[in-house]
Amino acid sequence: MRRLTVPKIRARKTDGVTQEPIVMLTAYTARQAQLLDPHCDMLLVGDSLGQVIYGLPSTVPVTMEMMSNHAAAVVRGSYHSVVVVDLPFGAYEMSPQHAFEAAARLLKESGAAAVKLEGGEAMAETVAFLSQRGIPVMGHIGLTPQAVNVLGGYAARGRSDAEAKKIVDDARALDEAGAFAVVIEGVIEPIAIAVTKAIACPTIGIGASAQCDGQVLVAEDMLGMFERVPRFVKKYGDIASTISDTAAQYAKEVRERSFPGPDQLYQPKD
Ligand code: KIV
Ligand code: NA
Repeated sequence: MRRLTVPKIRARKTDGVTQEPIVMLTAYTARQAQLLDPHCDMLLVGDSLGQVIYGLPSTVPVTMEMMSNHAAAVVRGSYHSVVVVDLPFGAYEMSPQHAFEAAARLLKESGAAAVKLEGGEAMAETVAFLSQRGIPVMGHIGLTPQAVNVLGGYAARGRSDAEAKKIVDDARALDEAGAFAVVIEGVIEPIAIAVTKAIACPTIGIGASAQCDGQVLVAEDMLGMFERVPRFVKKYGDIASTISDTAAQYAKEVRERSFPGPDQLYQPKD
């Protein structure tokens, strides 16, 4: 099976209609990518790896090196999904030229097909600059975690009329600038629906609406790696208990000297 392409993802939505919703999950490692890839259309190497993998307090400290290394691992572990990599905070906001340099570096070093960046109207010029020069861009609006220091937290967006209008305007600006898809995160449902109707390219919802053209979640959240998850996460699994119970069993067997057993041992004559 050949790898899906950005134009194929973009074409899922034609004349405002998406027959088959786009399935996206985050992945940060090769093995995780291998397991998730057959079920997805896109894998996102999200800067959420700052918290999930590195234990950082937010996505703000995430570096280009982290994104590049994890994106390369995810590309190596997948063969079907389009791999999209987040531009980390500080790597793209200053100018379209800086953004191009950072995005090109990520694609060249990792083999990923596209980048994602946060922001609406303020980033439209950059989205056009990149997409006209060979770098497909996915937008990200609504709750934008890299702006946590401006927003003051991770509360849902779009509750006031002014905020709602701003989010729709942001979506339109990204769409017109040539974004191939737009993530819409943490907004009240009517805004997610309004945005999905207002723009030509697909919307990928997270804490948004089932009427978006696709959905994305942090894989560890939906696998049940964490006890506490945001309201918009549905836990489809309970990986945390599996890991914890499995490690407890290993520890018990080491302490009682029942591991390694006969099956795991090399004998003088096999
Ligand atoms: O970093 C990330 O995982 C993301 C998704 C949650 C959209 O940006
Ligand atoms: Na992100």
